[in-house]
Amino acid sequence: METEKWHEAYSGFQYHPILSEEKARMKRFRRMGILNLNKDASILEVGSAIGTNLNLLKAQGFNSLSGIEPSQELVDRSTCKDLIKVNGAADIQFPDNHFDCVFVLGVMHHFPDLEYTLKSMEEIKRVLKPGGVFCYNEPTKSMTRTLGEWFLMSPFSNLFFYSRRMKTLYAEEEEELGYWLKNENNIMSKINEIGFATISYHKSSLRSTFRAKLA
Ligand SMILES: C[S@@+](CC[C@H](N)C(=O)[O-])C[C@H]1O[C@@H](n2cnc3c(N)ncnc32)[C@H](O)[C@@H]1O
Repeated sequence: METEKWHEAYSGFQYHPILSEEKARMKRFRRMGILNLNKDASILEVGSAIGTNLNLLKAQGFNSLSGIEPSQELVDRSTCKDLIKVNGAADIQFPDNHFDCVFVLGVMHHFPDLEYTLKSMEEIKRVLKPGGVFCYNEPTKSMTRTLGEWFLMSPFSNLFFYSRRMKTLYAEEEEELGYWLKNENNIMSKINEIGFATISYHKSSLRSTFRAKLA
């Protein structure tokens, strides 16, 4: 569970006026294949925070959206709290075979270890219908990220408001993020072992997108 400091820093990123947060999110949805789904498809977002993604997808016409989010504080701040259950990924309070798609955006790198991640993937498998799609968009290891992290942790980054905020976020999630970045490939292969067949894997300079189908 994230600290109060993390929540405060994270709030500053919603719909950032300069970085065009909304555009970036739409691009991630496209990469994850979500925008190609039928508008009636039942979709679950794991780790939906204040519901930014759910609101964007609702505006696109999707009409069967749900989210789970372990932080009551973030859910309370959401403008679509009717869609979100206070619930963690390793114990999803939905019935078996319920969703056509489960997506995760910037959440798996908060999971504490492999055991928790695999437990969550078993849960995602349980709530997906046969043939259902799981996708994630997460930070990935790259030269650009390594250079960015070096800048962020250097005193130069204190000169900019945005990077100061980013630094706080980074410091708060450093351990879990480090674990994720080192183990992403291993985690992906375990996801396959659980019964998901990879559809695609796309790596950009800072993030990767994985799509898989339940066999
Ligand atoms: C970087 S935010 C991303 C939120 C949202 N997906 C988005 O794109 O705006 C990470 C979120 O993961 C949530 N989270 C952390 N641990 C989790 C867990 N075990 N199960 C589900 N969500 C979790 C956090 O509470 C936080 O809301």
